[in-house]
Amino acid sequence: MRALTKYDDLDELLIEEHVALPAERPADRALVRLNMISSVDGGSAVDGVSGGLGNRDDHAVFAALRDQADFVLVGLSTVVAEQYGPPAQDDLQILVVAPTPDVSGNPSLFETGRATFVLGEAAPPTPSGVPDMRVGKGTSVDLAGLVRELRGQVVMLEGGPSLAGVMVSLGLVDEFFHTAAPMVVAGESARITHGPAADAHAWGLMHGFCDDAGYLFLRYARDGSAR
Ligand SMILES: NC(=O)c1ccc[n+]([C@@H]2O[C@H](COP(=O)([O-])OP(=O)(O)OC[C@H]3O[C@@H](n4cnc5c(N)ncnc54)[C@H](OP(=O)(O)O)[C@@H]3O)[C@@H](O)[C@H]2O)c1
Repeated sequence: MRALTKYDDLDELLIEEHVALPAERPADRALVRLNMISSVDGGSAVDGVSGGLGNRDDHAVFAALRDQADFVLVGLSTVVAEQYGPPAQDDLQILVVAPTPDVSGNPSLFETGRATFVLGEAAPPTPSGVPDMRVGKGTSVDLAGLVRELRGQVVMLEGGPSLAGVMVSLGLVDEFFHTAAPMVVAGESARITHGPAADAHAWGLMHGFCDDAGYLFLRYARDGSAR
């Protein structure tokens, strides 16, 4: 664990170190890395979006994590609330988990072909030109089956709290990148993971730093030892 330090000029090398891929990866499924931001009192959104919590350095970490990824995995509600656009990285595809392929909340993203719906086999067909993957019977996606299907790949899980909570409770998240924004927002937004309970063992704190605005960036590994 690197000492927590304030960096006036957050340098690229520090961010590279923070997001560097782990030496060991699961053999039988994708490596899944979760990235979420919260206020220090645990809020996940301000006025319904996480953008109100972030800053320049959080955006830099977010972008650096995407640079390492083969896929972004995200819930449909987040794609709509945050008005996701196509990723800056040409070869990065967004996988959107949903019970039904409803493009109405963000039609411009789905028109680009850069977002693939991940649906259960019984979900309705996607609109013409919108790619899909079918994993699991019924309308629910078999998330464990999905990460097995993506074995060998790096998956950046970007939330929201519902999808992240289910993935954590299923033991499918290997690393957690948490940004703590120096804000106390109260309100009614969800915690950054919520839903079914997960195994409450201690995760290893692998890296961390603080920027000049008081944002704290922490990296945990589910099976890691603190260092
Ligand atoms: N602080 C942060 O870092 C952060 C990050 C991302 C988003 N957010 C905020 O979080 C909010 C949105 O998050 P959210 O938790 O409401 O939703 P979400 O996790 O983005 O998406 C939930 C969607 O995924 C579907 N889903 C989940 N598991 C599924 C499965 N196994 N099979 C099929 N569909 C499945 C849900 O279906 P059902 O409808 O059937 O449940 C629902 O439609 C927004 O306010 C956003 O700004 C914050």
